[in-house]
Amino acid sequence: MNQKGGVSKTTTAVNLAAALGQKGTRVLLIDLDKSTGATSARGVPPTYEGTYEVMLGAAGIDEATLRWDDEELDDVTLPKNVDLVSSRRVLEGLEADLREKNKFADPVMTLGREIERVAPGYDFVIADTAPDVSCPTLASYQIFRWFIVAAVPQRLAVEGIDAALADLTAVKQARIPAGELRGGCMCMVDGIRTRLNKIEIENVQAGLPWEAGLFSVIEKSTVVGEAQNAGQPVGVYAPKHKIAALWARLADEVIERLKLRKRSAAF
Ligand SMILES: Nc1ncnc2c1ncn2[C@@H]1O[C@H](COP(=O)(O)OP(=O)(O)OP(=O)(O)O)[C@@H](O)[C@H]1O
Ligand SMILES: [Mg+2]
Repeated sequence: MNQKGGVSKTTTAVNLAAALGQKGTRVLLIDLDKSTGATSARGVPPTYEGTYEVMLGAAGIDEATLRWDDEELDDVTLPKNVDLVSSRRVLEGLEADLREKNKFADPVMTLGREIERVAPGYDFVIADTAPDVSCPTLASYQIFRWFIVAAVPQRLAVEGIDAALADLTAVKQARIPAGELRGGCMCMVDGIRTRLNKIEIENVQAGLPWEAGLFSVIEKSTVVGEAQNAGQPVGVYAPKHKIAALWARLADEVIERLKLRKRSAAF
């Protein structure tokens, strides 16, 4: 999570999911962003059902899940052990479409119920969220139990964290059982020892609640863009690259911090 755009939420969700999958844990990745970053890289054609249909109540989550080991998914490549509920641009019109097609449907409840139903089949359910306060983002705040803030060492990204944390607090005040923040992931860190980066990392750390410390940083590297262009997570595209090792370490830290199994995290 982070209400600021371009701070590596999607990159972290996709690469963390792949790294967890490589370690043998079963992951369901849910794309809750209308800009479809976690979906498009996988080559998913726009005809597939996804979060839009699930939230609209038009499809069950089982029907909308693309399975990594489904041999009939011709052009779709999913990392080992990672299933995907895809997203499409239409997610943008969800609220208007609900009023028109099914005004009694409750998209948050519907999505929450569907996730609860399939969660026992996975070790992690990870959502990639948009940098906004649209219905799917707010749904994630209400449904998921654990949150990881993605951040880059820049002042605006820190402000995005404050906005997201304020929303989580508001969810709690509304007596909706909201999730807990479980840590921050600093991404695109270009030289961890530079003075400016050190200050910004300390700012992010200071802005997080005391119990949710930072995970190890993910350094900036051109391999991230290259892997993205190739439609693969870094761990598949360049398994021996330092950045792949950093995401593998992040996966270990997440497993350790979340004390394993049958839980959820949202980005
Ligand atoms: N460690 C990294 N090194 C280099 N480039 C990176 C790294 N992490 C992310 N990027 C690049 O930064 C850009 C933004 O990342 P990403 O799309 O993951 O951000 P986001 O927070 O999901 O954005 P949005 O809010 O728009 O959904 C992408 O082009 C991505 O390739
Ligand atoms: Mg994104």
